[in-house]
Amino acid sequence: MLGLKLLTDPRWANIAESNLEEILTDHAWCEQKAATNAITLIANNSEHQELVDELTTIAIEEMQHFQQVVAIIKQRGYTLGRERKDDYVGKLLKFSKKDGSRNMAFVDRLLFAAMIEARSCERFRVLSQNIKDQELAKFYHDLMVSEAGHYTTFLNFARQYSTDVDVDKRWKEWLAFEGELIQSFGNKEAIHG
Ligand SMILES: [Fe+2]
Ligand SMILES: [Fe+2]
Repeated sequence: MLGLKLLTDPRWANIAESNLEEILTDHAWCEQKAATNAITLIANNSEHQELVDELTTIAIEEMQHFQQVVAIIKQRGYTLGRERKDDYVGKLLKFSKKDGSRNMAFVDRLLFAAMIEARSCERFRVLSQNIKDQELAKFYHDLMVSEAGHYTTFLNFARQYSTDVDVDKRWKEWLAFEGELIQSFGNKEAIHG
């Protein structure tokens, strides 16, 4: 699925469902971080008009997702907790190339975003197919579709704007790294946990 090297064990969904307040809090902040990432990309690469337009749409969609998750939290009588640290994303960020040319760093930032969208999409799929709560299963199915679209947008922009990067080769390196990394996750009630 989406080129991912390792699919999530469906038992992770049971761990997630055992603590809905926690997974929903973690999820809400994932959406906020996705919006922030899109805004940062806009601010740092404003010469690309098409990117500015598309990522503005994505930033808005991510904040709508945030709003939807927060609404579910309230509706169920839970409380939105403080922002959770995302070790998975932190490790991906370390893997991303920040040296080299400006274009290289830009393209790698787009691939970093595509990678997170791909895994998030896969995790939402696992939730939608394995949790017993039907309302949430439907919600996660809809989000899975949305994040798949974001994944495609980021990957296409990486290809479109690359001037000195072999994007397909670099994307393979991302998939290989992520496939190793994700092996140490899948045991916590967090979207990338
Ligand atoms: Fe989202
Ligand atoms: Fe997204």
